[in-house]
Amino acid sequence: MSALLSVADAHVAYGKVEAVRSVSLEVGAHEIVTIIGANGAGKTTLLNAVMGVLPLRGHVGFAGQDLAQLEIEDRVGLGLSLVAEHRELFWTMNVEDNLLLGAFRSARSATASSFERVYALFPRLKERRKQLAGTLSGGEQQMLAMGRALMGAPRLLMLDEPSLGLAPIIVADIFRTVGELRSAGVSVLLVEQNAQAALKIADRAYVMELGEFVLQGPARDIERHEGVAASYLGFQHTGESAI
Ligand SMILES: Nc1ncnc2c1ncn2[C@@H]1O[C@H](COP(=O)(O)OP(=O)(O)O)[C@@H](O)[C@H]1O
Ligand SMILES: [Mg+2]
Repeated sequence: MSALLSVADAHVAYGKVEAVRSVSLEVGAHEIVTIIGANGAGKTTLLNAVMGVLPLRGHVGFAGQDLAQLEIEDRVGLGLSLVAEHRELFWTMNVEDNLLLGAFRSARSATASSFERVYALFPRLKERRKQLAGTLSGGEQQMLAMGRALMGAPRLLMLDEPSLGLAPIIVADIFRTVGELRSAGVSVLLVEQNAQAALKIADRAYVMELGEFVLQGPARDIERHEGVAASYLGFQHTGESAI
């Protein structure tokens, strides 16, 4: 079975500085894959390059197509979607209109069922559908950013630090929803500094350091790996789960 997303020997540079070096990665259908790593490791750079926001040297394929010549819009059309770290909502528009913007390429009939699907995943958004995005809590804003991406019915959702700045109880909520997406047939590529939460939910994981993948495998194995536990899971500090 071929992977939904397949990246091979990818390099991404800012001018002369390579921020991503020789990275290879696959995400299969019905799979949650996480990339964990410290701040500055190159995670956001990699996601942006897969989406087409930054130029990438190497191979990126999605759903059997080579993405090299495709603009961002065409990648979205194939079913690839990115929820950026800064969420990028339209603050002076309400929840419903923000969601509608995520469905701009869909037929009207499809839009109605997309609203239903998103509101089922995030009942809170339905309650707040007339509220301005700028007045939502951080957790609700993250839900809205994910909801908007899901309005286009993507096959792969890439999430950049969805837990950033959120209280643990909200993080648990967001991650539960990520699990529901997998059940609904959406694959997820999850980038997180909250390694503990990410490894709990993911099927497979890649560990990124200074632009390179240094470790990969089933999430359960990565979670138990001594070096990962010491560097990313904070066991030496608290021994407690972050969620
Ligand atoms: N726009 C940019 N211009 C130059 N260097 C950048 C830019 N964005 C990120 N970098 C550098 O690239 C490296 C990877 O950053 P980033 O992908 O944001 O890491 P992460 O998402 O893992 O925190 C860092 O050294 C960072 O300073
Ligand atoms: Mg980042």
